[in-house]
Amino acid sequence: MESKPQAPIRAVVFDAYGTLFDVYSIGVLAEQLFPGKGDALTRMWRERQIDYTRLRTLSNRYEPFDVVTRDALRWTADALQVALSTEAEQALMQRYAQLSAHADALEVLRALKGMGMRLAILTNGTPAMLKALVEHAGMGGVFERVLSVDTVRQYKTAAAAYQLAPDAFGLPAKQMLFVSSNGWDACGATWFGYTTIWINRSGLPAERLGVSPDATGKSLQEVVRFLTGRT
Ligand code: LAC
Repeated sequence: MESKPQAPIRAVVFDAYGTLFDVYSIGVLAEQLFPGKGDALTRMWRERQIDYTRLRTLSNRYEPFDVVTRDALRWTADALQVALSTEAEQALMQRYAQLSAHADALEVLRALKGMGMRLAILTNGTPAMLKALVEHAGMGGVFERVLSVDTVRQYKTAAAAYQLAPDAFGLPAKQMLFVSSNGWDACGATWFGYTTIWINRSGLPAERLGVSPDATGKSLQEVVRFLTGRT
């Protein structure tokens, strides 16, 4: 842990994919479908998906995240020169809709609730995608709000996307802890004005964007430690 929060934190706002929900199972299925190419497919799919969100936001050509995700999968299959059957596409997209929560997620969410924190998700995913994920993970009733950028039709890191939580909670961003396992998202949220923690699960180097999250940790447990000031 690197530091204590400077502002009193009233709410914790979570990114969804990779942060609360474990995308690992996508890689397992991708490897079964495309032996030897599962890792590359999973990595390139995710990169293309996020590239497309940025391109569409920069060029004001919004399409919902399920469409962007499917398009990125198709591009990746083309790039890797694998035949993506309708069945394989459906299986991968279905897995995306039913990701498991990270093992420690529910325990951490309960601990935060016990501390009196208000909880939200703020995600690029559509409301329908998130409803399915939250229900599948047994997280119904845990979050006060599940906020989707679909309502503003701009993806992170647009300010309009990050503005959803301050508007929903009536709190300044600084009084909310934004939690993301995506370095770029943690940086975007820091730029916007949140107090931030980057859950760097895979030990990636810090982004070179001239901004640092308020804290960095390896698992969601670090969120509780950050808020209680323990190391
Ligand atoms: C999300 C992606 C960026 O949930 O992980 O918004």
